[in-house]
Amino acid sequence: MSELNIYNCKIMKNYRSFYHNSLENPETFWRSQAEELDWFKFPREILSERTDGYWDWFKEGKLNTCYLAVDRHVNTGRGKQLALVYDSPVTGTKENYTYEDLLDKVEHTAGMLKGLGVKKGDRVVIYMPMIPQTVFAMLACARIGAVHSVVFGGFAPHELAIRIDDAEPKVILTASCGIEINKVIPYKPLIDAALEDAEHPVEHVVVFQREQLEAELIEPRDKDWERLCQAADPVGYEIVDANDLLYIIYTSGTTGKPKGVMRDHGGHAVALEFSMKYIYGIKPGEVFWAASDVGWVVGHSYIVYAPLIHGCTTILFEGKPVKTPDASTFWRVMDENKVNVFFTAPTAIRAMIKEDPEALLKKPYHLNSLRYMFLAGERCDGGTLNWLQNTLDIPVIDHWWQTESGWPMVANMPGIELLPIIEGSAGVPVPGYDMKVFDAEGIPLDSNEEGALAIKLPLPPGNLTGLWQNPDRFEAAYFKNIHGYYYTGDSAYISDDGHIFITGRVDDIINVAGHRLSTATIEEVVASHSEVAECAVIGVADILKGQIPMGFVVLKEGITKDPVEIQDELYKDVRAKVGPIASFKNCLIVDRLPKTRSGKILRQTMRSIADGKPYKVPSTIEDPVVLEEIERDLDTNWKSKMMAV
Ligand code: COA
Ligand code: AMP
Repeated sequence: MSELNIYNCKIMKNYRSFYHNSLENPETFWRSQAEELDWFKFPREILSERTDGYWDWFKEGKLNTCYLAVDRHVNTGRGKQLALVYDSPVTGTKENYTYEDLLDKVEHTAGMLKGLGVKKGDRVVIYMPMIPQTVFAMLACARIGAVHSVVFGGFAPHELAIRIDDAEPKVILTASCGIEINKVIPYKPLIDAALEDAEHPVEHVVVFQREQLEAELIEPRDKDWERLCQAADPVGYEIVDANDLLYIIYTSGTTGKPKGVMRDHGGHAVALEFSMKYIYGIKPGEVFWAASDVGWVVGHSYIVYAPLIHGCTTILFEGKPVKTPDASTFWRVMDENKVNVFFTAPTAIRAMIKEDPEALLKKPYHLNSLRYMFLAGERCDGGTLNWLQNTLDIPVIDHWWQTESGWPMVANMPGIELLPIIEGSAGVPVPGYDMKVFDAEGIPLDSNEEGALAIKLPLPPGNLTGLWQNPDRFEAAYFKNIHGYYYTGDSAYISDDGHIFITGRVDDIINVAGHRLSTATIEEVVASHSEVAECAVIGVADILKGQIPMGFVVLKEGITKDPVEIQDELYKDVRAKVGPIASFKNCLIVDRLPKTRSGKILRQTMRSIADGKPYKVPSTIEDPVVLEEIERDLDTNWKSKMMAV
């Protein structure tokens, strides 16, 4: 069994002592990080074990996340500094909000929620595009101690309904539309359809009317956002407990039902503040831009909470890396706002490379403020890393994390010590994370051996505190596999000098254009088609999106319908039930699926075949010939099609 050799590595002196301290003296380490924040009452205990064997951080501390992110900065002289810049190439608008402006907006949005009867602990679902009102809404919930659950706008009504039924919100906040490049997407019909589908009754739907499309409101349930906000009295912050719930964010698990990841106020605030200083190496007053969406954890942590808690200016970008209007848009935003640290997903950069391989569109822009560029959300391929390094001439840093962690777990941390960048590695463990790789039997592996990556308990602050309404799944998904460790679901190996190389998922979760999806969710929809006998959906490698879902479908006996028609129906079904972001546009009709003798579909083997990787024929296979058939089907009906494109 190997221990990380970080302690013996000469170049990692600063990092080594930081990391060592965080693991040897976690309470002292995190106490001093907690002291960086303004508490109304400092925690009585730093780390305490719960009755379910998990841990709480900062017990009995009193604080308010919205106060930390907004009021505090106004009180300490940052009121006139820009807090939020909304840059929307899709609407051709730009709006600036100082910390004072932000406070005013958030106070009134909180007043609006209070006026609707929302109280501490009530849930509020936010299904909104990337507009400032979304940020005001999240902060307003935090202000009054309500629990927000932001659902990404690319999910279809059925997925929204599942989340509504689970979170049981009192109120839904939405906008009249979203804008995807040049398409106006009406949101209100999606909400209406979701509420029709859901069992949980919602008291009110508050709609922010955008000028691109006005939604029809049905009183008394539906309310006009602006009208309520204007009439609302400004509301102060509620003092909450460190372990009170700040938000629930749904993420894909290995079943069709999403997991409601819970995050508390105290640990979250401490971890995010730590990350800004030590991981991203950014100072208060500087400009941080995470080009993601508030519907994902990256958006929660690094568009909204962390930059604001740290007193930075954050950018809310409503657009895409390409086509809004072209691949120069990221460079323009960085130049115009003098961005110091930038964060996006490799897929966004690949989209830019495709449109502007020589980065000619960057030429008119000056990026001299930019110090670091961070990438996450999926594996960073060498081509993307090298292109960025050559184009930017600054450190381009891959880092690894998950919705569950809420902040990076593996990184290269310029705020502590910038280490040499190693292609293929997401860096070294962040302070607080004690990582090991295990084999399928739960036996620790040696360095350079690939297996399941797990993290020793207790996890540092900011990590999930549970799964909403589902303690059994919390236990089963994360802690049953390896005793005393959090099971990440990712495979990895650790090099001799402690660098972590993430190699993929060990389960059926896929990452499509930086969006985490469950193949089980897509499979449920495909399987429900009247002509489908059985199916498997797997993630296959895609040059732009990293991965895309691919369906293998066996039709019922005697079906005479044109297979192309069936394929089209399946694509439409998945789009309508899961959402457009599933990008389900590839599906093969096959005679049979490869299975073990006990009937388990061999998805992993199919994935290897589709990706052209070497694979072993499992000894448990029922009929090895099926693998040859699948290979042939892929070659003739998919790979040849891709080559033609
Ligand atoms: N509301 C409604 N529809 C949405 C949506 C939203 N919020 N987000 C995406 N969609 C739709 C898109 O319009 C597209 O529809 P289409 O099939 O009609 O074209 C579909 O969902 C797929 O969207 P996407 O995966 O975003 O593909 P794309 O081709 O439009 O763009 C990228 C590709 C790579 C440019 C884009 O996905 C991207 O910028 N990804 C980065 C993601 C990211 O930041 N992830 C966070 C991790 S850091
Ligand atoms: P999400 O919960 O949506 O943030 O997705 C988390 C998953 O994305 C992880 O479990 C990984 O599988 C993948 N991921 C995120 N960042 C990276 C990275 N830097 N390298 C490789 N995979 C990553």
